[in-house]
Amino acid sequence: MRCARSLAVVARARRSSPPSLLRLSLASLGRAQCFGQSGRSRRALSTAADYSHAVFAPLDTFADRHIGPDAGETAKMLERLGYDSMDAFVDDTVPKHIRVAATTVSNDSIPPLTESELLVRAKELAAQNKVFRTYIGMGYHTAVVPPVILRNVLENPAWYTPYTPYQPEIAQGRLESLVNFQTMVMSLTAMDIANASLLDEATAAAEAMVMSYAVSGSKKRTFVVDRGVAPQTLAVLRTRAKGFGLNLVVADVATYELTPDVSGVLVQYPDINGQVTDYTALADKIHANGSLLSVATDLLALTMLKPPGEWGADIVLGNSARFGVPAAYGGPHAAFFACTNTLKRKMPGRLIGLSKDTMGQPAYRLALQTREQHIRREKATSNICTAQALLANMAAMYAVYHGPTGLRAIAGKVHAFAQIVKDAVESAGLTVANPAFFDTLTVAAPGGASAIHERAASLGINLRRIDNDHVGLTLDESVSLSDVTDLLAVFTGKEVSASSLSPPSQTSIPSSLRRSSEFLPHPVFNTHHSETEMMRYIFHLASKDLGLVHAMIPLGSCTMKLNSTSSMIPLTWPEFSNIHPFAPTEQAAGYARVVKELSEDLCKITGFYAASLQPNSGAAGEYAGLCVIKAYHESRGEGHRDVCLIPVSAHGTNPASAIMAGMKVVSVKTMGDGSLDVSDLRAKAEQYKDKLAAFMITYPSTFGVFEDGVTEACKIIHENGGQVYLDGANLNAQVGVTNPATCGGDVCHLNLHKTFAIPHGGGGPGVGPICVAEHLAPFLPSHPLVATGGDNAIEAVSAAPFGSASILLISWAYVKMLGGRGLSDSSKTALLNANYMAERLRGHYTLRYKNSKNRVAHELLIDLAEFDKLAGLKVTDFAKRLQDFGFHPPTCSWPISTCMLIEPTESESLEELDRFCDAMIKIREEADAIIAGKQPKDNNVLKNAPHPIAAITLPDSEWNRPYTREQAVFPLPFLRQRKFWPTVARIDDAYGDINLVCECPSVEEVASN
Ligand SMILES: Cc1ncc(COP(=O)(O)O)c(C=O)c1O
Repeated sequence: MRCARSLAVVARARRSSPPSLLRLSLASLGRAQCFGQSGRSRRALSTAADYSHAVFAPLDTFADRHIGPDAGETAKMLERLGYDSMDAFVDDTVPKHIRVAATTVSNDSIPPLTESELLVRAKELAAQNKVFRTYIGMGYHTAVVPPVILRNVLENPAWYTPYTPYQPEIAQGRLESLVNFQTMVMSLTAMDIANASLLDEATAAAEAMVMSYAVSGSKKRTFVVDRGVAPQTLAVLRTRAKGFGLNLVVADVATYELTPDVSGVLVQYPDINGQVTDYTALADKIHANGSLLSVATDLLALTMLKPPGEWGADIVLGNSARFGVPAAYGGPHAAFFACTNTLKRKMPGRLIGLSKDTMGQPAYRLALQTREQHIRREKATSNICTAQALLANMAAMYAVYHGPTGLRAIAGKVHAFAQIVKDAVESAGLTVANPAFFDTLTVAAPGGASAIHERAASLGINLRRIDNDHVGLTLDESVSLSDVTDLLAVFTGKEVSASSLSPPSQTSIPSSLRRSSEFLPHPVFNTHHSETEMMRYIFHLASKDLGLVHAMIPLGSCTMKLNSTSSMIPLTWPEFSNIHPFAPTEQAAGYARVVKELSEDLCKITGFYAASLQPNSGAAGEYAGLCVIKAYHESRGEGHRDVCLIPVSAHGTNPASAIMAGMKVVSVKTMGDGSLDVSDLRAKAEQYKDKLAAFMITYPSTFGVFEDGVTEACKIIHENGGQVYLDGANLNAQVGVTNPATCGGDVCHLNLHKTFAIPHGGGGPGVGPICVAEHLAPFLPSHPLVATGGDNAIEAVSAAPFGSASILLISWAYVKMLGGRGLSDSSKTALLNANYMAERLRGHYTLRYKNSKNRVAHELLIDLAEFDKLAGLKVTDFAKRLQDFGFHPPTCSWPISTCMLIEPTESESLEELDRFCDAMIKIREEADAIIAGKQPKDNNVLKNAPHPIAAITLPDSEWNRPYTREQAVFPLPFLRQRKFWPTVARIDDAYGDINLVCECPSVEEVASN
């Protein structure tokens, strides 16, 4: 009532008051009033809208901390745009026919918790998880996270908030760390080249399979997988093989007769039962057959085992998480992928390489980017975009901290404990089925497995359940001597004292398979071993990187919003981080609750019926959703439907995912105003009527507008037998305002690392759950080891049943703390912030697209083509100049090559929006001076940007630039107080691709510098 009355007052004031008075009236209203019907409290005590006694109101309501503009700022922005309420503004921005009722996402449907209430609730759920000592293995271990890495990397926003290092001049820290990761993998596997992370071991194996097929010229359609490969890897391989029409054979590779159609073979070393096998002869046989050998392996084992690169592997992959990344109920973890030099141009994922800057100094940046899916689109064989950069950085830091000597000591201890267990178990009359091992034993206990499991459970111990006659166990760095005595008691039934144990006198690693080559000789792995040194190295690298800790990162399509501390805190509690993904489900009841509540809330938000949280990234969600659509068609006897319509403006992962799901891509045109060409869509849908499987649409579009035609487009697809996949990367514009189901979709993925506040981690992790309509729910992905998915499920798309489970907590906390009203207010503010920026930049830049009411959605596309025509200034020049102003540039040259896509999000305050707009306007002035001939076209303040300290401290004789040093680095007054320095000058991409170097400098190189 209060709100309605206040608005009526404002409306009256608007009609009769002079402008200054109106401004006062708006600014003096609380935010609740600005938000109209859906108003919410602001700074809690400033309003009594929610509480009869304001003095009792909670002081830590999350929405107030998450949403940048306060009531006065919101009112100011609305006024600048000519509105007297948020509702009136939203009415002009989002088409009426797709709006949802305010009750859809409201405090009744999702009640808000304060920050302190959330932590209490998270503690309750944590207590429902039971942390057992876990020896299940199967690719997951209880990692020991060095506290210096836990606190200063995983829990440090300077490491977790930056974006993928597309702007390398302000990302040298994490690029260096990712090169450390690559070097670590190359050195331990003895392979020529390694990438900087894939999503998980199983999807890395799938990439190896597809790469083997692609390299063999697409004729060899059979891929052979050894029986010793982990079941979750096998499940993901089966899903992927189906999409590419490959013939997957599971066999004992020791006896399998290779045929000419075999493109590759995958073995696991050590295998799932712990056996270490010499595959040298197999490698020769495979190569003689013209096929590739892929090896799934374990980095810690390779400190003791002869590395695959020394016995003929072509591709080596695995999970790096036991290098200091918690098991976390399955992830996030960084998978690694290494290959021989001959294969490097087909390698999936991000590759970091060395190049040089314009001053000739060495500098890192993403290498060979033409391999990436957003360039290759439907020709891509992989859809990796977001990967696992933060976890790769943690693993690399772990190797830096321990160095080769420390790693050898850890591996030596793990192996010695495994040897002690083996000897004791055998002395007690049991046998170990795998004579050669590193850390994993398969104990044969005919008929006695369940008794062993019972004894183990009574001591709070999990062992691997194999069958009635066999029990598995895998040891890791966390195991202590007393853990070993407990294990012996479990297996032998007798108490053993720790003092009776002595180091084993033998090793079960055959001499032919022992590692003799050195590893990690590079200085970086042999320097930072004290905590002081390590802490300084971590902070030294972080200081080179621009993250949300410095300024807004207005990357269109990426939604770089606040990653709140309160939602990050539960993540590293042991009750969440020390749960094995295949632990008995009753030990993970807290996680089950998080999965259930988050899935339900995501369904309320999207309007869909069911969700799967398994996909590990947005692109993985696309792939999963399209596989679900395929399975649906197959279930109706329409498996021949394989055409996927995709607008030309779509993100590159869309066509790449469609190909991976076994579809054929047909492009749909867009109109001059950026909207979908509905008549082209209709024509194509009718042309392919009999084969139409799906239509993929991003909404609001990648051009930053809510198109009116979306429901019409979806109708056309349904009339022609297809299903609609809605790419939810832009969901931040929709929450509580519209939703994918109302727009007409059947399935959508959500980037939890965008809309739902999981940090981007400098290039990952991400989570890409899919939400589906009721008819698609039966097909949601399953898992071979933990019951999940629909009744008619497709096989797994990720290694772990709930993907990157631990970071689901962040989105769960975000949704719970904002509550329904805070969620929809966030989206409305995101729309307002973008429109305010469009208004401020009007007259300075060309806004490419807007709707009939002059409104953009949650992002805006500005076109810089005119500057190229007039003065040869490219989008990159503007982007690099923004670095001098301390800002991360917006998304560049996508979806249109001459444009910048700017997305502020709701978390940025008016002051920050203005600071960014001031910078853009100043750059416009600088560009005008260049256009006017005051600075040469090839030597000016934009072309020479960014300006690191090394540039402005050049001697006068070398400062041959037509502007002062001050103009270069302090173009606006605020920079004198608040300067972020790029550490290198503009980087030469082409040089680095021609001279590809993807590893750390050696001792000799460091010495010669
Ligand atoms: C529109 C759109 N779709 C899909 C994706 C892929 O998401 P991810 O990077 O998590 O794989 C992105 C990523 O930026 C995107 O912008």
